[in-house]
Amino acid sequence: MLQSESDNRNDVLRIAVLASGRGSNFEALCRGDTAPGIVTLLISDRPEATALKRASDLGVEALYMYPGNYRTRFGLDEEKQWADLMLERGIELVCLAGLMRILKGPLLEAFAGRIMNIHPSLLPSFPGLHSQRQALDYGVKLSGCTVHYVDFRTDTGSVILQRAVPVKDDDTEDSLAARILKQEHIAYSEAVKLHCSGVLEADGRRILRKDK
Ligand code: GRF
Repeated sequence: MLQSESDNRNDVLRIAVLASGRGSNFEALCRGDTAPGIVTLLISDRPEATALKRASDLGVEALYMYPGNYRTRFGLDEEKQWADLMLERGIELVCLAGLMRILKGPLLEAFAGRIMNIHPSLLPSFPGLHSQRQALDYGVKLSGCTVHYVDFRTDTGSVILQRAVPVKDDDTEDSLAARILKQEHIAYSEAVKLHCSGVLEADGRRILRKDK
């Protein structure tokens, strides 16, 4: 479905993607089957992010918004501005896709239980930055990606789904990252579709499927 076709419909669930860089997961979400969810907005904290260009090419509203004067988190006022804008746009699910900032307050409050992230490791192993390098250095034989809900700490929210890949003897950080990225693109759409279809339910930390 094109974004323009979805503009006046009540049976779709609007998704915003927040990205700082390349935006390949954003594009995978736009091209993948996330119904009844549809990506209607991309916001970046970096004006030079390739994700903004991809959004324009895909006909998705693309905005640069100032994140505040910090390197790895939002200013409180700015985080509220991002949340307010998304609420005004009728956004119901927020997908972080390579957003290089920690959420601290207003976004988490405005979208409690409705923010997802994708991480390039099998959490809880290798949270934070350079997960593929961490996996190689540790010597694991399997790695992968995790889609999870976002909570107040980094990469600790409830796991929605994971996909695994082998780690090969001759892998470099780049070759492992590329193998994981292919799975990220499949996993993120699948997780978003499950959320938007209303089949997920929480049992403590565990996210279960009501339709199974
Ligand atoms: C991905 O590896 C994602 O798992 C991580 O940041 C990277 C973003 O890549 N959180 P892209 O911008 O979606 O191409």
